[in-house]
Amino acid sequence: MNIKTLISEEELSSKVREIGKSITEYYSGKTGEIVVVCVLKGSINFFSDLVRAIDLDVRYNFIQVSSYSGKNTTGRIKVKSWVEESLEGKHVIIVEDIVDTGGTLKYVIKYLEKQNPASIEVSSIVVKDIHQHGIEVKFPGFVIGDKFIVGYGLDYDEKYRNLPYIGYIE
Ligand code: IMP
Ligand code: MG
Repeated sequence: MNIKTLISEEELSSKVREIGKSITEYYSGKTGEIVVVCVLKGSINFFSDLVRAIDLDVRYNFIQVSSYSGKNTTGRIKVKSWVEESLEGKHVIIVEDIVDTGGTLKYVIKYLEKQNPASIEVSSIVVKDIHQHGIEVKFPGFVIGDKFIVGYGLDYDEKYRNLPYIGYIE
């Protein structure tokens, strides 16, 4: 398969540092613990880089959900694992690889809200359309058009996640 670079390794790392700075500024001075929730598997690389760019105490948590099969969303969200700590009174930052239709995030937010966190915000390294589904991505990375992308955690049928850049399949 022919993969063309869309976002280089250097562009990714400087963007992640920028997002980390914004998050640090936004939460500095707020009281309550911060829980960074990694939405597996796609967010693993972004999460790992982002937490190291945040200059605050944070807790890690992981959830695994999926809706995609190949290049197409199935529209049905499957939960494979969920947060294992109480989020009551904590600031939750959901870390996503990509917001496409927003369906996955809507679902995740709806269920995390039931645990009474102090706040819930979203960071996603790529956003396909920032205004879809009324979801506010407070800490976005790159906004792209309607392309299917791989790399930096994103897969096509479980392949290409470990590319250090983000590319698209021609
Ligand atoms: P949504 O529910 O439509 O917003 O889709 C979100 C999930 O679909 C993401 O977390 C990804 O796992 C997957 N996804 C959406 N677009 C792409 C893409 O272009 N490449 C790889 N995975 C994608
Ligand atoms: Mg995903």
